[in-house]
Amino acid sequence: MNLFITGIGSGLGKALASEALNRGYRVYALSRHLPRELEGKVRFVPCDLRELERVGLCVKELLEGVEELELVILNAGILGQFGDMSEVPLYKFQEVMDINVWANKVILDTLKEMNVKVRQIVGISSGASVNCNRGWNAYSISKASLNCLLKLYAREMEDTHITALAPGLVLTPMLEEVMKQNAQRFPSVKRILEAPKRTPEEASKLIFDTLPKLLEFESGSYVDIRKI
Ligand SMILES: NC(=O)c1ccc[n+]([C@@H]2O[C@H](COP(=O)([O-])OP(=O)(O)OC[C@H]3O[C@@H](n4cnc5c(N)ncnc54)[C@H](OP(=O)(O)O)[C@@H]3O)[C@@H](O)[C@H]2O)c1
Repeated sequence: MNLFITGIGSGLGKALASEALNRGYRVYALSRHLPRELEGKVRFVPCDLRELERVGLCVKELLEGVEELELVILNAGILGQFGDMSEVPLYKFQEVMDINVWANKVILDTLKEMNVKVRQIVGISSGASVNCNRGWNAYSISKASLNCLLKLYAREMEDTHITALAPGLVLTPMLEEVMKQNAQRFPSVKRILEAPKRTPEEASKLIFDTLPKLLEFESGSYVDIRKI
C-alpha cells in the first residue's frame, strides 16, 4: 500500500508518517525537512511548497514509477501571522495561500497528469475554516479555500474519495504558536488553552482509525473529527 504525504518535518505530519509505517504503508513524502527518526524509512524528496513552480517536478521525481496510491494526505500547512486583518500585509496572506491551498492544486494536477490511481485523499483542514475567529485571518481563509478546492476536485475525480478533515486540537509547534497569542484580544485562544488536546501520535492513530468512516461521507465533504 502506497501513501503520499506532504509536510513530515514536525507535528502531525511527522507522526502520521510514523503511524503509516507502523501500519505497513510504503511512505512517499514531500517536505522541507526529513526527521532523523524517519531517515531511510520513507521515500523523500525535499520540497519547499512555497516554490509553486517546482512542486510538480518534486511530485514527479518522488512518484516516478508509482501507479497507485492507497492514500494521499495533504498535511503541510502554515499558520501565518496571527493578528487582526488590517495588521497583516497582503503578501503574508499570499504565502499562506500558496502553501495551504495552491501547492495542493499543483500536487493534485500533477497526480492527474501522471495518471496515478488514487483511492482516498485526506486534506488536513481545520475548524478555523468555518469559525473565522478574530486573529486567524489568512489561515482561516486558506482552510476555507482548501475545503472548497477539495470539493471541486471531488466532483471531477469520480474514482477517488476526498475529505477535508479537521483533526481537532493537536499539540504541535503550530498550536503552541497559537497558544502564545493574546487570549484577551483573541477569545478563541483562551478557549484553546482550556480545551483538551491530543498528542500528534494520538491524533495520527485516530486519523488512521477514522479513514474507513470517512468513506461514508459524500466525497468532497468537510468533516470535523470531533463531531463523528
Ligand atoms: N495542530 C493543530 O491543532 C491543528 C488543528 C487543525 C489543523 N491543523 C493542520 O495540521 C497540519 C499540520 O500542522 P501541525 O499542527 O502539525 O503544525 P507544524 O508542526 O507546524 O507542521 C507543519 C508541517 O507543514 C510542513 N511545511 C510547512 N511549511 C512548508 C513548506 N514551505 N514546504 C513544505 N512543507 C512545509 C512542515 O514540514 P517541513 O518543516 O519539513 O517543511 C510541517 O511538517 C496543517 O495543515 C495544519 O493547518 C493543525
